[in-house]
Amino acid sequence: MCGAPGGFSQIARDQTKGKARIFLVDIARVKAIPNITEIIKGDITKLSTVLQLQRSIEKYRVNNEIIVLADCSPNVSGHWATDHARQVWLAEVALGISNYFSAEKFITKVFEGEYLLELLQKIKASYNNVKIYKPATSRKESAETYIIATESKNRNKEEYNQDYLVLDE
Ligand SMILES: C[S@@+](CC[C@H](N)C(=O)[O-])C[C@H]1O[C@@H](n2cnc3c(N)ncnc32)[C@H](O)[C@@H]1O
Repeated sequence: MCGAPGGFSQIARDQTKGKARIFLVDIARVKAIPNITEIIKGDITKLSTVLQLQRSIEKYRVNNEIIVLADCSPNVSGHWATDHARQVWLAEVALGISNYFSAEKFITKVFEGEYLLELLQKIKASYNNVKIYKPATSRKESAETYIIATESKNRNKEEYNQDYLVLDE
């Protein structure tokens, strides 16, 4: 989710050595990247984008573990609190999509701020194992944080469930 220009997707591709299908979704246009299964240009807060991703997943017969990796950042307004709130909202949208697909793992990058705890609680409602990772290379002032959630509580659900989706009007 929010994978433009494609750095994380290329790392995921290289780490999985051709054994994984990689779908990159972003509102921005992305140039073709070798061995990325599909690039979907769309807003993740729209149902049409989720359904497009669903069609791709079905087309490639993805029927084993799904991992959702989200790195969503809104257009920065310059107002820290607003930007933080919008970023956490996008992470929540990605979490909803993760639940919709019963993704076994959900990983998201967010910046520290007042809504981080609330987001963590929502992730814990869907995943049994939730860890926080702060890379040593992160600049202290940016407080970049990765949330790594495993053991989905939805893992045995085979149906897509739109109730999980948290979408814009
Ligand atoms: C920090 S960048 C992601 C970088 C990416 N992880 C990489 O490795 O190349 C954040 C991305 O979030 C995307 N984004 C923001 N809002 C979005 C939305 N509603 N739907 C889809 N993508 C969105 C932006 O277009 C931007 O490309």
